[in-house]
Amino acid sequence: AAITYAMEFRNLCSLETFRDICSPSGYSENLEDVIKNEFTRIKGVTYLDHAGATLYPESAVREFCLDISKNVYGNPHSHNPSSTLTHDTVDRVRYRILQHFNTTPEEYSVIFTSGSTAGLKLVSEAFPWSAPTATEPGSLFCYLTDNHTSVVGIRGPASAQGALPIPVSPSEVEGRARAGVEGVGGHDGPAACQTPHLFCYPAQSNFSGRKYPLGHVRGIRARRLYPACDHPGRWFVLLDAAAHVGCSPLDLQSCAADFVPLSFYKMFGFPTGLGALLVRNQAAARLKKCYFGGGTAAGYLAGEDYFVPTANVCDRFEDGSVSFLDIIEPHAFGLARYTHMLLSSLCHGNGHPVAQMYTQGQFDSPDTQGAILNFNLLDCRGHIIGYSQVDKLASLYNIHLRTGCFCNTGACQHFLDITDQEVKNNLKAGHVCGDSIDLVDGKPTGSVRVSFGYMSTFDDCQTFLSFVVDCFVEKPPRVDRVRLENLRQTKTGPCGNSHQKRSIKLSANGGIKQEVETRRPAEPSLEGCVRPSSAVDTTLPKNPYTLTHIYIYPVKSCAAFEVCDWPLGASGLLFDRSWMVVNGHGVCLSQKREPRLCQILPRVELPLGQLSLSAPGMENLSVPLESAATLKTIQRVCQSKVCGDRVETVDSGDEAATWLSDFLGQPCRLIRQSPDSIRGGQKRLNTGKTTKTSTAVLSLVNEAQYLLINQASESSEDGQPLERQDLISRFRANLVIAGVEPFEEDSWSQLIIGNAQFLVGGRCGRCQMICVDQDTGAKSKAPLLALSACRSGKVGPNRPYLIIQPRAQCGVHLQTMAFA
Ligand SMILES: *Cc1c(COP(=O)(O)O)cnc(C)c1O
Ligand SMILES: *[C@@H]1O[C@H](CO)[C@@H](O)[C@H](O)[C@H]1NC(C)=O
Ligand SMILES: *[C@@H]1O[C@H](CO)[C@@H](O)[C@H](O)[C@H]1NC(C)=O
Ligand SMILES: *[C@@H]1O[C@H](CO)[C@@H](O)[C@H](O)[C@H]1NC(C)=O
Repeated sequence: AAITYAMEFRNLCSLETFRDICSPSGYSENLEDVIKNEFTRIKGVTYLDHAGATLYPESAVREFCLDISKNVYGNPHSHNPSSTLTHDTVDRVRYRILQHFNTTPEEYSVIFTSGSTAGLKLVSEAFPWSAPTATEPGSLFCYLTDNHTSVVGIRGPASAQGALPIPVSPSEVEGRARAGVEGVGGHDGPAACQTPHLFCYPAQSNFSGRKYPLGHVRGIRARRLYPACDHPGRWFVLLDAAAHVGCSPLDLQSCAADFVPLSFYKMFGFPTGLGALLVRNQAAARLKKCYFGGGTAAGYLAGEDYFVPTANVCDRFEDGSVSFLDIIEPHAFGLARYTHMLLSSLCHGNGHPVAQMYTQGQFDSPDTQGAILNFNLLDCRGHIIGYSQVDKLASLYNIHLRTGCFCNTGACQHFLDITDQEVKNNLKAGHVCGDSIDLVDGKPTGSVRVSFGYMSTFDDCQTFLSFVVDCFVEKPPRVDRVRLENLRQTKTGPCGNSHQKRSIKLSANGGIKQEVETRRPAEPSLEGCVRPSSAVDTTLPKNPYTLTHIYIYPVKSCAAFEVCDWPLGASGLLFDRSWMVVNGHGVCLSQKREPRLCQILPRVELPLGQLSLSAPGMENLSVPLESAATLKTIQRVCQSKVCGDRVETVDSGDEAATWLSDFLGQPCRLIRQSPDSIRGGQKRLNTGKTTKTSTAVLSLVNEAQYLLINQASESSEDGQPLERQDLISRFRANLVIAGVEPFEEDSWSQLIIGNAQFLVGGRCGRCQMICVDQDTGAKSKAPLLALSACRSGKVGPNRPYLIIQPRAQCGVHLQTMAFA
C-alpha cells in the first residue's frame, strides 16, 4: 500500500500535472536552456529564497568583470576622459532603468542608493514634513500594517519633525473605497490645504507574497481612498517595490508613485549593495534641496555613483526575441501556485494536514499574489513543527529556504496571531530576530518561506515537496483530493484556465496519439483529510530506572567514548567536549562539514594523564591532559565561536595539528577551551513546551552540560528500541536511562542519580542532530527520516532528550547503576 501511495504522490508531482495546472502562455523550452547555461553553479542545490536575494546569471558577472577590467572608470564628477566614461555609462544605466519601468527622464529621476532601505531613509529625511500650526494640521505619515522594519523606520525622522504616524490596515483602505467616499478628493475649497502627507505601502509583501493593488497610488493621490479622503492636504505615495519587481513588471505610467525604492540584487541577483530610488520629478521638486538638485536633472548622492552596474544586467532582460519579462511572472507564479496546491492538500497517513499556510486568498492570480509561499509544518497530531527544525533538515537536503519573521513583524504578528504583548514577552525571554527559538510555549515565533525566481524550475518544486514528505509526513502520505480539486478550479490569470487539459502521450511506436486522463479515479484511501482532534496523552505510573550508559565526547563532533564510572567536572562530565577541531580559518569543524570526524576515536586516559586519538590508518596520537591553564602559558590563545558564543581557546600544538591535517586532508588544528573562558551565563533553552533560563557554565557543548535520553521514549523505525549507535549518532547523549515509561521525563524537574543531583532543563534544541554513520563517516538521512515517524498514540515531538545541569558537585562520580 505504501508504494501505491508513494506512486500516487509522484504522479501528482509529475511535470504533466504541473503543466496541466499551469501552462502559462509563452512558456518555452528556451527558458529551460537559459537556466541550464546561466546557473551551472546551483547544480544540486534547491534554491528557494528568491525573495531574500535572487540568483544572478553567470554571464552578467563574466561580462561585468570583462568590462571593468578593460575600461577605465574614473570619478564621474571629474572631467577627464575616464570620468566622462563613468558619467555617460551611469546616465545610460539610468535611462535603461527608467525604460524598464516604462517611464522617461521627463517624468522620473533615478537616485542610486545602496538599496531599498537607504531609499526609504532618504525619503524620510528629505520629505518636507510639517509640524502642526494654529491653522494647519501637521503632516501625516501613514503606512500599511503589513509593515516591515525599514518602512517603520521612517517613523523616527517623521515624528521628529512633527509628523503624526498612523498605521493603516489593508482592509481600511479597501473598505473605505468601496463605501463610496469617491470624489471627496480635491474639493477643499479655494484655500486648499497644501500640507504634505506621505502614504507608504509595499507592492508585494515579502512575508506572504500578497500583492497590494497598484491602484492605491492613484486613489490616495486623488484622495479617493482612506486615509487620504479624510485628511485634506497634498498626498504623496511611496511604493516599496523591493519584493515586487523581482518577478513582476511595474509600469510607472499607469502607477505613478512618487517614490519607488528598489534593490537590484532582488531583481538580478547582482550587484549587491546597489539600489535606486525612483522619484517623480513633480515630487522631487518638493524634496529638501540638500538631497536633490531639483527639476528634471538627475540628482547625485555624493559617493554613491562609483559603482557602475554593467548595462548587461538590464540588457539580459530586455533584449532578444523572447521577452523574458512577459514569462517571468507567470513562470514563477506557476511554480509557486503548484507547490501551494500540493502542499496545502498534503496530509499525514492519519489524515491530518501537513501544512498551515499563511496566505490571503486562494493563490489564484499573479495580480494579487507573488511567487512566495509562507507556512508552518504540522506534525501528525496537528502540533506546529518549529521552523528551525525545518531549516536544519532542509540544509541537509541542500534546500535553501528562509525561516523566521522576515523582518516583517507586522505581517508575522498578523498571520501567526502574535499579540504585541507576546512580542515583548518573547523579547524579554531572550528571543531575538534570527535566533533559533522557533516555538515559545508551543506557539510559533516565525514561519517558513519558500520563494521562486524566474530561474526556478519544476524540479525545485519536486525536490522541495519530496523533502517535506520524506522528513515530516507520517507514511503513507495522503492527498486531500477535494481540496486539491477546489484549488485547481479557482481560476483567474494565466494559470487558472487550463485545468481541463489532458496530457497527450505518444505511444511507443510513435505517431499514434493517445489521450490519457491525468486524473486517476480517486482511490478510497485518498479521501479528504480529517481535522486533528486533541491528542490524549495518558499519564503513566512511575518505575525504578537504570542509568545504562555514560558517554563522553572529549573532542566535539568526534566519536563517543563510553565509560562506566566517571567524575563530574565544573561544566559537565570531566573532559566532555573540552576540545574541538578547527579548520585553517579557525572555524569549528562539525560532522556536517567534515563527516570523517566521527572516525576519530578519542579516549581520555586519566591515569596516564593523556587524551589519545586513534583513527583508521593512523598511528595513535596522545595529547597531554595538562590543565589548560598550564597550556596557556606555552601555547597561543585564540577566539572561536560555538553556537554563536565566542569562546577563548588554547591551541594543542603542532603535533596534534599535523596528525589531524593528515587524516582529514585539510589544514586543521586541535584546540581546547581555555579555563578563563566562561561560557553560559543567561542562556535561554530552546525547549519547546517550557521555557527556562540556564545559568550553567558550558564546555564546547552546544546547549547544556548533560544530555540525557530515555530509551523508552525512543524507538527505531520498526518499533524496536534504539541501537547504541543511534543513541550516539542521533542524539549525542551523555546519559542513557532505561526502565522508564516513554516521555515520563517530560514532567521531571530534577533527578538524583547516586549522590549527584541534577536539574532538568527541558527538551533539547536541535543543534546536534546529525546524520553521519559513525563507522564510515558517510552522510545519511535515515535517522532524520525516523523523526517524522509518528506511531499509534505513542508519539512525542521527537526531540527526545533533556538538558540537565547539576546542582554543584565536583569530585562526585557517576556510575552506571539503578536509581530510584
Ligand atoms: C528586501 C526588502 C526591502 C529591503 O531591501 P534592502 O536591499 O535590504 O534595503 C524593503 N522592502 C521590501 C518589501 C523588501 O522585500
Ligand atoms: C506594524 O503596524 C502595526 C499597526 O497596527 C503596529 O501595531 C506594529 O507595532 C507595527 N510593527 C512594527 C514592527 O512596528
Ligand atoms: C523584508 O523587507 C524588509 C524591509 O525592511 C527587509 O529588512 C527584510 O530583510 C526583508 N526580508 C527578507 C527575508 O527579504
Ligand atoms: C590505539 O588506540 C586504540 C583505541 O583507542 C587501541 O585499541 C589500540 O591498542 C591503540 N594502539 C596502539 C598501538 O597503542
